[in-house]
Parts: sequence; structure tokens; C-alpha cells
Amino acid sequence: MNRHPNDASETRPLCETDGQPGSSRRQFISRLAAISAGITVAAPLARSATTTERTALGGQSPGQNPDGSLVEISLKLNGRPQKLKVNPRVTLLDAIRDRLDLTGTKKGCDRGACGACTVHINGRRVLSCLTLAVMAQGKEVTTVEGLAKGDELHPVQAAFISCDGFQCGYCTSGQIMSAVGCINEGHTRSDAEIQEFMSGNLCRCGAYPNIVDAIKMAAQQMNSGR
Ligand code: FES
Ligand code: FES
Repeated sequence: MNRHPNDASETRPLCETDGQPGSSRRQFISRLAAISAGITVAAPLARSATTTERTALGGQSPGQNPDGSLVEISLKLNGRPQKLKVNPRVTLLDAIRDRLDLTGTKKGCDRGACGACTVHINGRRVLSCLTLAVMAQGKEVTTVEGLAKGDELHPVQAAFISCDGFQCGYCTSGQIMSAVGCINEGHTRSDAEIQEFMSGNLCRCGAYPNIVDAIKMAAQQMNSGR
């Protein structure tokens, strides 16, 4: 079965988020929230901040909690220190997009199945929709916006352009973040290996052959510079 290579549940199917067949992402998130924030999550709070709930809260963003139980976190985002107060149940994906206004990281499935939300934490690729913002406390988070150096694209970004590694582009930031991880992990010895270690990143446009070409091109460049 295809797995996201850096999914914490590396030995488990993608959609099986907490090891309990049939259990939901909401349950997964609430358990992690309790562990990470050191609190007991009461049943009414044991749900992720859905659009419906945000509407019910008067349009507040997921990091704003009317009951006052906010957690302050400090992290480094794309090299810059950031402090923010978040509800412990807010995902890193929502914090990045809705609180820190970096929308390059995409929300596809919001349940760990597509890879569109891939970011790096301390250099390791993770699915930000399955990671609570509080888990990034004290860590370095890199999004696709943090790859380029000024006007100079990251070799993987440049290779995706050279090889036409995207069509609609919705999956592309996740593909690129995962590709950087794949190369850094050394999983580019063959097309088959690249396909396996990129298998957690889905592309509904079917740009897969060009994505593999882009990764091979970037890997050559990055590895020759080491
Ligand atoms: Fe996170 Fe699909 S895996 S949005
Ligand atoms: Fe459209 Fe991948 S380029 S989903």
C-alpha cells in the first residue's frame, strides 16, 4: 500500500490516522491535543475547527477561542521567529494559512491522504493537516514560501518548471516540499524508488512522470553540490 514516506504512521495506511479502523481525524486530533497541551479535552471540544464551527463562533479563525484556553507557541517559520496564541486543537495547516497568512501550503483532503499540506519541521517532511500547531513549539517550520533564496528558486522549484511538473498546480507546493525531503533522504536511486517515496503526494492532474523527471533533475544538481 502506498504511504506518505514521512508520515509518522509510516507502517500504517494513510487514512488510518490513529490505528483504530474507522476512527476519524477528529478523534485523532483531539487525542493529540490532549497529549500536546497537557489538558483533558472535553467532549464538546474534541472536534477540529470546522467551517461550521467557525461560523458558529461568529466567524472567528481557528486560533481564536472564546473560552480563553489559548496556548502561546513560539516557532521559527521560514527562518523568522513567530509567536502566536492558538487553540490547542488547531492544526499547523490552519495556523499557517489562517493565522500566519502563508497560503502556499494547500488544504486538499484535510485528513492525511493527499500530501498537499506537506511542510518541513526541523527539516523533516510532515503532513501539516495531521500536526497540531502546538506540536511545532520551539521548532523550525519551513513552507514552500521559505525554499527560495530571494529571487533564486530552490533547485526543486526550478526543476518543476523546467520539466513541466505541474498542471493546475494545486498539489505542487506539497509535491515540492515532499520532493526536497525525498532527495535529502537519498530516495532517488531509481524511478521506482522516487515513485514509492513520493507516493503520499497525489496529483489529480496526473503529472507524475514529469514530477519524477523534475526530482531526478533536482537531485543531480543538489547531490553534485554536496
Ligand atoms: Fe493534508 Fe491532504 S494530506 S490536506
Ligand atoms: Fe493539478 Fe497536481 S498539478 S493536482
